[in-house]
Amino acid sequence: MRISQQIFPRPVALIATVDSKGRENVMSASFLMPLSFNPKYVAVAITPERHTFSNIKEIGEFTVNIATLDMLEQVRICGKYSGRDVDKFSMTGLTKVPSKKVRPPGIAESPITLECVVEYMGLFGDHYLIVGRVVEEHVRRTEFSPLLHYAGDSYMEARALKS
Ligand SMILES: Cc1cc2nc3c(=O)[nH]c(=O)nc-3n(C[C@H](O)[C@H](O)[C@H](O)COP(=O)(O)O)c2cc1C
Repeated sequence: MRISQQIFPRPVALIATVDSKGRENVMSASFLMPLSFNPKYVAVAITPERHTFSNIKEIGEFTVNIATLDMLEQVRICGKYSGRDVDKFSMTGLTKVPSKKVRPPGIAESPITLECVVEYMGLFGDHYLIVGRVVEEHVRRTEFSPLLHYAGDSYMEARALKS
């Protein structure tokens, strides 16, 4: 049984990156966690085979764009194809927004974008733990339905409990 089937559901984010020539890429990620309130840190686990990993290693910056339920199709595409072979921004029609403090763009469809600068990368088994310091954030909406990942192509939605 995979760890993704044991620790779930996990919010999905689109991780946007660029290479040294300024070519942008976007990948789906659910191995994501908040690390610190102040200063704000976020961690994501990415395998070294991903094009996203090469871009992050090269440039040291990325953006975390929270995915909502209505972004499911774009998430599927961004999690299926590699930026080595295709331009996923054109494939999905996701709208790039220039970032303020990092080179990778944000994504307009996402309610929250965190601009991150890498402060730590370390290999744990088959994934690199990548820790980013949040240097700028864009909150477009505070009420949204986050897309949650189970494993493979299975997703869930969040429901608030009565307090
Ligand atoms: C919902 C979802 C979540 C994913 N989470 C991760 C993740 O956290 N880390 C990772 O390395 N790959 C993850 N993947 C796989 C990558 O998104 C996928 O391999 C993608 O094609 C890599 O793109 P790239 O080569 O352009 O970076 C996920 C895929 C999906 C569909």
